[in-house]
Amino acid sequence: MKKKFEPWGRWNGTSKIFTLDDAKFYTYLTDEGEHIPTPIINDDNPFNDEIINSNNILEIGCGVGRNVQYLLDNTNSNYIGVDPNREMTKWFWDVVDKNSRVKLLNNLNLDTEIDVVLSILTFEHIGYRTPNNIMDIRDITFEIMKYTHTGTIWVLVEHEVEEPGWIDRWCGDFNINPDVRIKNWSRFPELNHRPNSNYDFIVWKQK
Ligand SMILES: C[S@@+](CC[C@H](N)C(=O)[O-])C[C@H]1O[C@@H](n2cnc3c(N)ncnc32)[C@H](O)[C@@H]1O
Repeated sequence: MKKKFEPWGRWNGTSKIFTLDDAKFYTYLTDEGEHIPTPIINDDNPFNDEIINSNNILEIGCGVGRNVQYLLDNTNSNYIGVDPNREMTKWFWDVVDKNSRVKLLNNLNLDTEIDVVLSILTFEHIGYRTPNNIMDIRDITFEIMKYTHTGTIWVLVEHEVEEPGWIDRWCGDFNINPDVRIKNWSRFPELNHRPNSNYDFIVWKQK
């Protein structure tokens, strides 16, 4: 049986109809209720120039588009957001202004090469924990890699609270030796609002 690209984790949206506030809350809010982006272009990232000058950025699990305006403002790239969770994506265009550089998809059938892949607080909620008929992060990564190339920059901001060890396992599956892996990443202090969150900042230039 072919595996399905379906929402997984507490974001599956099947049990609850999301208001915009719910969607923002389940995406990410600070303690102060701010819905601010994650600054992936920063002094810890050796590939800022590659990201700024990229053609196409893919955000897997884009949610309501929290990071879109930041990426439009700080890069010359197009943005492709992919998220199978319609309870999230139905609000995407309320959060994001219509822009010819932005595309939203509910599947992994892309029509372009990808120069930057972002997983911000997404892979952590899926991991290797899906049932057999639903794609896990290994399956999803294989699909994404059909569109990436040598030199594609991968940036992940993720924790391992729900599945200790998944990051090493994922790196092992794809022979990934990250160029950057900072544990308890402090450049995004708002993330520390959840006790024991322990976010990692991971950057890898695909070989
Ligand atoms: C915590 S939110 C993060 C959203 C966004 N990346 C951000 O930083 O604002 C996690 C996202 O993962 C999405 N998601 C759930 N299952 C998924 C899957 N199998 N593949 C891709 N995204 C998924 C959810 O719908 C949700 O939008």
